[in-house]
Amino acid sequence: MKFFIDTANLNQIKEAQDLGVLDGVTTNPSLMAKEGITGANNILKHYVDICEAVEGDVSAEVISVDFQGMVKEGEQLASLHPQIVVKIPMIKDGIKALKYFSDLNIKTNCTLIFSVGQALLAAKAGATFVSPFIGRLDDISTDGLSLISEIREIYDNYAFETEILAASIRHTMHIIDCAKIGADVMTGPLSAIMGLLKHPLTDSGLKKFLEDYKKGN
Ligand code: G3P
Repeated sequence: MKFFIDTANLNQIKEAQDLGVLDGVTTNPSLMAKEGITGANNILKHYVDICEAVEGDVSAEVISVDFQGMVKEGEQLASLHPQIVVKIPMIKDGIKALKYFSDLNIKTNCTLIFSVGQALLAAKAGATFVSPFIGRLDDISTDGLSLISEIREIYDNYAFETEILAASIRHTMHIIDCAKIGADVMTGPLSAIMGLLKHPLTDSGLKKFLEDYKKGN
């Protein structure tokens, strides 16, 4: 399972990278705005800064909603750095753009996936990743994890190479549940990743080991 961090915060990206378990980064316009990164030039520069801070894929989202605009923007984003993955929304022109970039062997991430039908269509168009937003489904009393399971079943039925990138991960249990189901990738906040290492018995066990070591010295 690949671990991506879902943020535009460089400090958090570097902290996850330092841990040695990071496979990539996902961003979106909201995450950029949250860090105060605004204006086209600043946003493009920030993508390059992120690429230079990590080794893996870095999803950069287009803001155009028409095919020609997505192609122009996506090509500009892809030319910024070899690690860039062009993130494209699940809309009609987005499907055309996924196919266009797939034919050029440019990596894509189809975002805002909320149904199996959308995931099937994105895979048919050759998306490298699909991003089902499980937290936002949970928010409206719909089981986000079930969507991951159903996409897994369909992709396995036909050996689609598109990777399931579980997105809108809100907490540590989301990561564990996605791992059980077989999501290829998860993208979540640093807090959810760090939550994986916590256990009170580890803390108390380590404390005792260190105390006992001191007794013998
Ligand atoms: O990866 C998608 C993510 O950024 C959306 O997360 O928490 O805004 O639903 P959230």
